[in-house]
Amino acid sequence: MSYQNKRVAEVADVLRTRLAELDDKSAILKAPELRGLYAEIPTLPPEQRSGFGKEINLLKAELEQLVESTQLSALSSQLTPIDVTAPFDLNVPADKRPKLLSSEQGSTHPITSELQIFIDIFSRMGFTTVESRQIDDEWHMFTSLNFPEGHPARDDYDTFMTLEKDKNGNPFVAPAHTSTMQNRVLKKYKENLEQGKPIAVLIPDRVFRNEDLDPRHEHTFYQYEGVYVDKGVHAGMLIATLKTFFQEYYQKELKIKTQPFYFPFTEPSFEFVASCVFCDQKGCNICSQTGWIELGGCGMIHPNVLKMADIDPNIYTGFAWGFGVERPIMLKYGIEDVRHFHSAKLDFLRQFS
Ligand code: DAH
Repeated sequence: MSYQNKRVAEVADVLRTRLAELDDKSAILKAPELRGLYAEIPTLPPEQRSGFGKEINLLKAELEQLVESTQLSALSSQLTPIDVTAPFDLNVPADKRPKLLSSEQGSTHPITSELQIFIDIFSRMGFTTVESRQIDDEWHMFTSLNFPEGHPARDDYDTFMTLEKDKNGNPFVAPAHTSTMQNRVLKKYKENLEQGKPIAVLIPDRVFRNEDLDPRHEHTFYQYEGVYVDKGVHAGMLIATLKTFFQEYYQKELKIKTQPFYFPFTEPSFEFVASCVFCDQKGCNICSQTGWIELGGCGMIHPNVLKMADIDPNIYTGFAWGFGVERPIMLKYGIEDVRHFHSAKLDFLRQFS
């Protein structure tokens, strides 16, 4: 900032130099030189007073800003650095975190209440639930899942990225799938295997994709990932687990089939397909008259994914799946457009309250 008036410019130089040496930066706002400038106003010819006064005010504003910015940077250097990909900022004291509305003013969102049913069913099958996260790094999103760098399979997961870079110079990502948690979960529960128990984890959370929006596609949606590892695990167990879940959720017998597919993190990989819960295979619009509905991707965990979590694939095998949450809820309640879920339309939400 440069000042036209010589007196103001002189005082500005003096005070900027002094500010650097002061322990209590805010003391600069009480500097006698600044007060002295204000005292000079009445001694000037009337036509010069307003221009001079304006410049003093500008100088005062500059000093206030300098004080504020040094206070802010002192504050941030005192805080312990946090993992910016963690679900929330632990440095925020509990009483400063956002308050939730009281239950009389709202109701549980259908995604939340249905997810609670999912979690309940899987917990009865021995699964522990772990939340995913809404910002992550490329290593978890891709590399830990056996996507080689630059591999075209990465393009199937076109999501949002930050301008800020991580320590390897890569942007952070809004995860496009809950599989981003697989490596963390495998490492965290590896000790189960050492104790002769399986790793059985359910990971529901929000995911993001750069999608063209239509009744079946949203840029923000939910998935529930499952990870199961033990000795002697095979694909029959994967199919039985998922079939049991869906039959319990819909409270009816379903026919199941798998179709071959490709994911870098499973080998073999499948698409899991169930008989249409709507028409019981008589043919309807929901299943496009085929009698079958695709519910998501799954497969046997690729040995490289296990190795990346220090689990020996010669001893242990596992299965995993990652399915959309909205789809089965839409099928259960006959919801025709996925965009209703995040539309905040009260007419829609009240039907579930
Ligand atoms: N992450 C995949 C997706 O969103 C779905 C998926 C497929 C997850 C196979 C898995 C899996 O854990 O084993 O397209």
